[in-house]
Amino acid sequence: MPIGDFVSIRDFSPQQIEALLDLACHVKADPRSYRSTLAGQTLAMIFEKPSLRTRVTFDVGIHQLGGFALYLSPAEINLGKRESVYDVAHNLERMVQAVMIRTFAHALVEEFAGYAGIPVINGLTDFSHPCQALADYLTMFEVKGRVRGLKVAFIGDGNNVAHSLMFAGAQLGAHVLVATPPDFEPKAEAVAWARERAAQTGGSCGITHDPREAAGAADVIYTDTWTSMGQEQEAEQRRRVFQPYQVNASLFAEAQPDAIFMHCLPAHRGEEVTTEVMDSHRSVVFAQAENRLHAQKAIMLQVMEAGGEVGRKFAGRAEALTRAR
Ligand code: CP
Ligand code: NVA
Repeated sequence: MPIGDFVSIRDFSPQQIEALLDLACHVKADPRSYRSTLAGQTLAMIFEKPSLRTRVTFDVGIHQLGGFALYLSPAEINLGKRESVYDVAHNLERMVQAVMIRTFAHALVEEFAGYAGIPVINGLTDFSHPCQALADYLTMFEVKGRVRGLKVAFIGDGNNVAHSLMFAGAQLGAHVLVATPPDFEPKAEAVAWARERAAQTGGSCGITHDPREAAGAADVIYTDTWTSMGQEQEAEQRRRVFQPYQVNASLFAEAQPDAIFMHCLPAHRGEEVTTEVMDSHRSVVFAQAENRLHAQKAIMLQVMEAGGEVGRKFAGRAEALTRAR
């Protein structure tokens, strides 16, 4: 710390992830202390896919830190098509202080980060969604009082959100069990990385095809859309294959009596989750969405703050967020 880019949860040590969560808690509890920390700084937000939460929380978040966000739509940039990734990176580094990118190919964000002399934040790729994972574990910590040792069941598609949930869970000592239909498992290299890191932190990462096995005694039941952005042509086939993986009252009843329901949103009520579960008192989906704001303010402070004072302070004194209270 301070960290350079925020492209993958895998790029950091468990201590750095804990420090980011610690900072997010402080930013959330005392936002006024941070309100001019990024004064005069601009974040360019390149969106090649739609968004509600990511766009609003980055925009509002940097504003609350004294900075300014610039929204660049798919039609404006057309990364790598209208202009090469190399050229866009070398333009923007002379105009803004950081770039957030939401795109399809993960390699494109890595390539951009390799060229740009300014921090790059991954706002979702087909492979991962690290900002989401940070907000997810912040939410679990707030609601359950700990992360280490929590049993987190992800039920649905082994997608970008599942990957980042596995990565952050492994960093923080959680037990993440992913249940998917055959052929929709998380990528093997993602599972291998999560298993290796979890072995060092006391967590675990398991894969099953049985949603009831994953849900059994879980502290957290998490799901996401069956059809991610860019897969729309597969939607009908996916609705059929994923039906047994719907999070409904019957499946949720397999979990701990005080289990919570999580979803990165947008949700498709009646598909991956029923309205009954989504609106139940055990659902924390809107707190989770709000935590995107606080988690990303911590990320922006870490990568953008001139002098890195906040980053250094939190690197040195990360509270043991993952420890049981
Ligand atoms: N969860 C999430 O990233 O939401 P958006 O796609 O609306 O940004
Ligand atoms: N898996 C989803 C997440 C949306 C926030 C998608 O990529 O569309």
